[in-house]
Amino acid sequence: MQMLKVWLKPLQILAIAIVCLVGVVLLSPATPAQAPVTLKLLMTAPDVPPWNENMVQAFEAKHPNIRLQIVEGPNQVNLLEDMYTTAFLLGNSPYDLVNMDVIWTPKFAAAGWLMDLTDDITPTELAAFSPADVEGSKYAGRLYRLPVRSDAGMLYYRQDLLAAAGLEPPRTFEDIERIGQALQAQKAVRWGYVWQGKQYEGLPAMFVEVLKGFNGFWVNPATLEVGLDRPETIKAIQFLQSTMREGLSPPGVTTYVEEDTRRIFQSGEAAFMRNWPYAWSLMNADDSPVKGKVAIMPMVRSQSGTANGSCLGGWGLGIAKTSKHKAEALTAIRFLTSEAAQKRFILKAGYVPSRRELFNDPEVVATYNHYPALLDVVDNAVLRPPIAQYAQASDILQRYLSAALTNQLSAETAMQQAANETRRLLAAAKG
Ligand code: GLC
Repeated sequence: MQMLKVWLKPLQILAIAIVCLVGVVLLSPATPAQAPVTLKLLMTAPDVPPWNENMVQAFEAKHPNIRLQIVEGPNQVNLLEDMYTTAFLLGNSPYDLVNMDVIWTPKFAAAGWLMDLTDDITPTELAAFSPADVEGSKYAGRLYRLPVRSDAGMLYYRQDLLAAAGLEPPRTFEDIERIGQALQAQKAVRWGYVWQGKQYEGLPAMFVEVLKGFNGFWVNPATLEVGLDRPETIKAIQFLQSTMREGLSPPGVTTYVEEDTRRIFQSGEAAFMRNWPYAWSLMNADDSPVKGKVAIMPMVRSQSGTANGSCLGGWGLGIAKTSKHKAEALTAIRFLTSEAAQKRFILKAGYVPSRRELFNDPEVVATYNHYPALLDVVDNAVLRPPIAQYAQASDILQRYLSAALTNQLSAETAMQQAANETRRLLAAAKG
């Protein structure tokens, strides 16, 4: 009996404890879900590895409640734009963050696909970024994205070959022709010059530089005047045609995107290449045949032109209007555009900063000694016209320019038609 009593006590206590525990579990209000918020964003395939390694991991370590999910898109930026556009047109886009090329802002903002961030970002925060990148983030005076990196078209050349031949770096397009041909004649390279000639967004990006170098223009965004059928434009096209006719550029150049030109130049087959600064770190990687043999400089102009200009490129982050996670998206944008995140990204992946201070940062300059000069290039870069109808205007130019470069139409006929279509487009938009 005594024994039973001794046993009963702990059993009773255990039973009471279990009842209490079950009660607590049943009666307590549902605990709030701790599942992290996932923010999706889409980018071109070559950008995904550097983003995952240098941006996403660091962000998630600092913000464990927010995940960044990068969806890999195609290489060509206009195909990426089509994917975003389709998602927005269908409504309820899966993307919270919108990773945007500088030329998309007017269209995406005008269509009402982006949140207006003007009141979320202070003027002091904005002042740290390059004015051209900030301008490219605005539409009708309102801010729709924060620049995460800048970009500017550059000329790469084989410093070793020029030095060995006793040649100075080029100052004009005509110099590129002359030097390229001389190096081809010496059999130092197979090709003189490679550039992006495929019918896609890289074509107008390359072309505005040649146009600028011949004193021409595409569309004046203030007056909407169209300059495509002017003699300067024809001369710019004739220069590109002559690079193919003379065998300076490969016949296949009219099918090349950035990565095609980079592979040819990096394998040591070309003397000059037009490309964006991302190619620099790849060019100088340990496995690159041209490591240490390449120099980079701003795009040149024609002998007959008065100024040169690099095309302004660059990417920024906006927030989709349909996103339910504005606070988290803003946290991500602030982190990804911060000085520390950009610096890591630049040092590892060789992109161009959108924050001005980083161009002269000692660590950045120690790795890339051309960055202080790059700030000047960005500040003086040529814009593709920042108009809401940019996508259509670009499509018109791409089609007719490509027709002229592949000899389907003469430069004059092609540009007459391109100018007429562009004028009709802009007139329709004016109403
Ligand atoms: C780069 C530039 C972008 C441009 C594209 C063209 O990604 O940053 O602005 O539209 O190249 O291919």
